[in-house]
Amino acid sequence: MSDAGRGRRNGEAGTENAVPTNPLRDPRDRRLPRIAGPSGLVIFGVTGDLSKKKLIPAVYDLANRGLLPPGFSLIGFGRRKWSHEEFADFARECAREKARTPFREDVWDQLAAGLRFVTGTFDDDEGFTRLAAQLSALEAERGTAGNYAFYLSIPPDDFPTVCRHLDTTGCTTGPDGSWRRVVIEKPFGHDLESARELNDVVGAVFREDSVFRIDHYLGKETVQNILALRFANQLFEPVWNANHVDHVQITMAEDIGLGGRAGYYDGIGAARDVIQNHLIQLMALVAMEEPTDFSAAALRAEKTKVLESTSLALPISETAARGQYADGWQGSEHVAGLTEEEGYDPSSTTETYAAITLEVHNRRWAGVPFYLRTGKRLGRRVTEIAVMFRRAPHLPFDTTMTQELGQNALVIRVQPDEGVTLRFGSKVPGTAMEVRDVNMDFAYGEAFTESSPEAYERLILDVLLGEPSLFPVSREVELSWMLLDPVLREWESQGTPEKYQAGTWGPRGADEILARSGRAWRRP
Ligand code: BG6
Repeated sequence: MSDAGRGRRNGEAGTENAVPTNPLRDPRDRRLPRIAGPSGLVIFGVTGDLSKKKLIPAVYDLANRGLLPPGFSLIGFGRRKWSHEEFADFARECAREKARTPFREDVWDQLAAGLRFVTGTFDDDEGFTRLAAQLSALEAERGTAGNYAFYLSIPPDDFPTVCRHLDTTGCTTGPDGSWRRVVIEKPFGHDLESARELNDVVGAVFREDSVFRIDHYLGKETVQNILALRFANQLFEPVWNANHVDHVQITMAEDIGLGGRAGYYDGIGAARDVIQNHLIQLMALVAMEEPTDFSAAALRAEKTKVLESTSLALPISETAARGQYADGWQGSEHVAGLTEEEGYDPSSTTETYAAITLEVHNRRWAGVPFYLRTGKRLGRRVTEIAVMFRRAPHLPFDTTMTQELGQNALVIRVQPDEGVTLRFGSKVPGTAMEVRDVNMDFAYGEAFTESSPEAYERLILDVLLGEPSLFPVSREVELSWMLLDPVLREWESQGTPEKYQAGTWGPRGADEILARSGRAWRRP
């Protein structure tokens, strides 16, 4: 995906930005590593889980790949009375434990020279004043050029306070020509109204083009590959429509439970946690039209357009389902139900499984249901997008010959076994004629020698580069809530969700959504 406004079509003559003759020297060559300019990153919530497991390791991986500027600075902001050295020790452990790339002392030492910690609380100007001073000091000491991104890895209730203090203490303005950006983690509100309020709060302090909303699924290689698969090939796009596609299933299944996450998850639930953001974004990438180029503006315009044409299939009682895991077996381990997990209200009505049906009202997709489901403590961890094709209009075979023939399918395996599978019927050798489903496979591990970067590596780098393609705009967030709000309201009025046993594939109600039209969920 390229920088805004830089799309150039093949053969298009350039004038003011003439393409150099050697494409390897062209700075716009998207195959070349992109290196961030002078900058720093401030993390709020730096001792939290996300920061420990993903953000700090991703910063280390970027440093290890040589993609950060020499004077890069990472500033942690938190309540602890840590010295810079204590913070560096903490960050080092995070990188050692969780980084994707090997730990190298020389890389670490260079990164550690730019590590700082500022003690402060979110509701107190003093800490922010110290932060402002630290940012100026780093500009002089390390040459950050006054460019900083503020990563809010904190509960959304704290966004307003933090944004306000950043503003009043001058942290949001730097020297002329510098930039200040804010990165916000989901949840972007808990319904449409709160999302709008949140957008207003952040918008009062930061311009929209300085706001980077993280949806880490968009940072995954396999998710960006949806665009390559669809728009770089001739094979798929001609059948990517209601004439050929019967329905689409988007699944994000996890085998983990929710122990230890009660503070965040209880009262939030699977639909808000995952469908509102990750799954609706995946759906938009599968359903959208071809963008004019890969600029942020063009991509966001297409995603927004398709979301505007999308609605919830009705009635909700027949097209959506939710569930909550009860105890059960995950492999050989007996695991507790949600309400027995530490910190959850025994009468919690929080859903740990959610499924909805969406319809896209345009010529391409009329009549094609998009089924979205997610759940915790399911049979196994798998995220995939299955485009299920219609059956052939006529089969010149005896029915016994095609008893084992299912629907043709194109399955984008987002994780863990990253790749793409094409499923179709093939003759079973040795029989007169028996047709059975077979799979044709592309696996990242076999096709490419390099391992894929973590989503957060890509996204943090994009923030520092000011490259917004992979970050949803506020309108996308609002449209997602518009789709989800009616379901959430209906569920709220219904009390306890249906229970499903841990280790299974979710509540019966979810199977019924598809069974009504003679379909079934895939069992990945
Ligand atoms: C997060 C959700 O956004 O994504 C978690 O809040 C979920 O509940 C996680 O476990 C899954 O991310 P990944 O990248 O492991 O699929």
